[in-house]
Amino acid sequence: MDVFHAPPDRSPGELTTRPDELARLVVEAAVQAPSVHNTQPWRFRASESEISVYTDPSRQLRVADPRGRELLVSCGAAVFTMRVALRQAGVVPTVSVLPDADQPDLVARVTWGGQVPPVEYERQLFTEIARRRTHRGGFSPEPLPRGALEALREEAALEGAMLRVLAQDEQRAALAAVVEAGERALRLDGARAQEEARWAPPPGSLRRDGVPPTGYPARPPRTEPYFPSRDFARGHGWGIRPHAPGQLSRSAGVVCILATSVDEPRDWVQAGQALQRVLLCASSFGVAAAMHSQPLELTTLREFIRVELSGRAHPQMVLRFGATSQTAVSFRRPVEEVLL
Ligand SMILES: Cc1cc2nc3c(=O)[nH]c(=O)nc-3n(C[C@H](O)[C@H](O)[C@H](O)COP(=O)(O)O)c2cc1C
Repeated sequence: MDVFHAPPDRSPGELTTRPDELARLVVEAAVQAPSVHNTQPWRFRASESEISVYTDPSRQLRVADPRGRELLVSCGAAVFTMRVALRQAGVVPTVSVLPDADQPDLVARVTWGGQVPPVEYERQLFTEIARRRTHRGGFSPEPLPRGALEALREEAALEGAMLRVLAQDEQRAALAAVVEAGERALRLDGARAQEEARWAPPPGSLRRDGVPPTGYPARPPRTEPYFPSRDFARGHGWGIRPHAPGQLSRSAGVVCILATSVDEPRDWVQAGQALQRVLLCASSFGVAAAMHSQPLELTTLREFIRVELSGRAHPQMVLRFGATSQTAVSFRRPVEEVLL
C-alpha cells in the first residue's frame, strides 16, 4: 500500500497543527533515522509551509565516504521518517529531492497538500520510528514471520529501490566473504580506522552521536556464514554482555542487498528513503535488521557485489533480517541543535 503520496487535486487546506509544533514533531521523528556511524549528518529549516533538509558537511566521513553517498543515504532515511511523521499528523507530504542544483546541501524540500487522517499502517510505522534500532551480531534461528519478506520487497519497490534476497548458500557465503574483506581492509587502513574511532565513543561518554557501547555486543558471535561487525570497541571489551552465556545466536538471518538501478546523488537519497521504509516495516513485524556498509566503501568490492550478486544493480546497503532478544540503545542530538 503506498500511502505517502498526495492524492491528486488536493488543496493545501488549513493546518490543524501549528506550524512550529508540526516542525518539532517532524524533526523529533526525523533524527531517529539511521545514519552511518550515527553521524546524524543533517540540519532542518522550517517555515510556515515547508521543512527543508540539508546535509551537514562537517559530519561527512571524508575518508570512508568522499563522494557523500552514505551521507545522502542517511539524509534520505531522515526524509522518509519526516513523511511518516507528517502522515501521523494527518498531513499529506510532497517531497522534492535535490530541488536546487545551486544548493547541493539542500537534500529535500518537504511541503504538504491536503489533510487526510493516517491509516492504521501509517500509525504503525510511526510507532516503529522510536522502537527500531540497528542490530549487530547474530539472530536466533527461527524464520521470518509469514509475509514479512514479501512486504519488505514491496516497500523497497515503492521507493524505487530493489531488495534482493540472497536465497542460495553460495551467494550468502560470497557476500559474507566480501563483507569480511571490507572489514579487514578497513582495519588495515589507519586513516579509515581513525575516522571510525572518532565516531565510537567510550562507555560513559556524554556524546549524543556516534555508536555507543550500548549499541553493539561485547563479544559478537561468529555468524554462519560470518558477517563481521565493525570494530567499534577496538579491543577494549566494550559492549553489551550476553543475557545467557553460551546461548549466543549464530544465524546470519535473511541476507539481502538494497540496490538501485542508477547511482547518482538522487538515487542515494531514494535508497535512504527505501532503507528506512524497509527497516520500519521489518520492525512492525518484530524483525530486527543488521547493516553492513564496509564493502560498499571500497570501489572494487562494491563493483564485485554489483556484478556478481546484485544483478548489476548498484548496491546501497547490505542487510540481514532476523529475530533477536537483544536491545541496542542509541542516542540522538536534541532537536534544538539541528532545527534552524
Ligand atoms: C548509510 C549507512 C551505513 C551504515 N553502515 C553500518 C555498518 O556498516 N555497520 C553497522 O553496524 N551499522 C551501520 N549503519 C547503522 C548505523 O550505525 C546506525 O543507524 C546508527 O548507529 C544509529 O543507531 P540506530 O540505527 O540503532 O538508531 C549504517 C547506517 C547507514 C544509514
